[in-house]
Amino acid sequence: MMSLGDDREVLREAPVGVFDSGVGGLTVVREIMRQIPNEKIIYFGDTARVPYGSKSKETITRYSRQIVRFLREQKVKAIVAACNTASAYALSEIEKEIDIPIIGVVKPGAKVAAEVTRNGRVGVIGTEGTVGSRIYSTYIKEIKPEIQVLGKACPLFVPLAEEGLWQDPVTDEIAKRYLSELIESDIDTLILGCTHYPLIRSTLGRIMGEKVTLVNPAYETARELRELLEQEQLLNRKKQELGMNCHRFYVSDMADKFQSFANSILKYGILSAKKIDIENY
Ligand code: DGL
Repeated sequence: MMSLGDDREVLREAPVGVFDSGVGGLTVVREIMRQIPNEKIIYFGDTARVPYGSKSKETITRYSRQIVRFLREQKVKAIVAACNTASAYALSEIEKEIDIPIIGVVKPGAKVAAEVTRNGRVGVIGTEGTVGSRIYSTYIKEIKPEIQVLGKACPLFVPLAEEGLWQDPVTDEIAKRYLSELIESDIDTLILGCTHYPLIRSTLGRIMGEKVTLVNPAYETARELRELLEQEQLLNRKKQELGMNCHRFYVSDMADKFQSFANSILKYGILSAKKIDIENY
């Protein structure tokens, strides 16, 4: 017979589920691997239904519910909604419906921005959905109501990042246009409120100038996940064999394309991804 202690041990070794609308959530995976390397990851990228940023709250909530069902079936011990749009639209509903911990990327990013701003002016860039939801502003104002939050949707950054144009005159030009309002508004902190934006971080940093602190919610989310797992006594204490064998990647379409993008971000070179039919969940 298994004791309660044994059960806990088995649960600790269970994977963490991470999902996104596509490849962008890999920037969060990268941080989780860096900060809590013992954790096994099951990733789902909704490559058939990307982008989420231009779809309605109802649609994104339905998609997110299906993905959470799939991840639950994989026996994950906790879930990270690595997509800003899904975190903005679906998380508050879904966290009421499931019995394992789930976190998004918005709250951790908002918390850090509220801590680091000195002049109380924070910019948020993200998809139309994330910026339109004003969710970063809501969370920041819960912490410090006096902070002014200015949002700017930057939809073209997603395809630019996916095309690998991380440092390119085209990206520079578009970034200058998108960011000019924020530069004029004298913000001192900028939240990269979309999974893809950390990939073009150096371009964004150069254009915003050194007085502006860039907040990468991916980094903060991995930190919060670690804290949560520690609190719930779910942190995996068993050292993982390094390599991708302990992690699993699923997508809803174009597994090969996902695989080569993922390998360029995660730098393991041996990752493989499997296609599943998410509409069955
Ligand atoms: N992953 C999405 C986000 O962070 C960006 C891409 C999309 O629009 O699906 O909001």
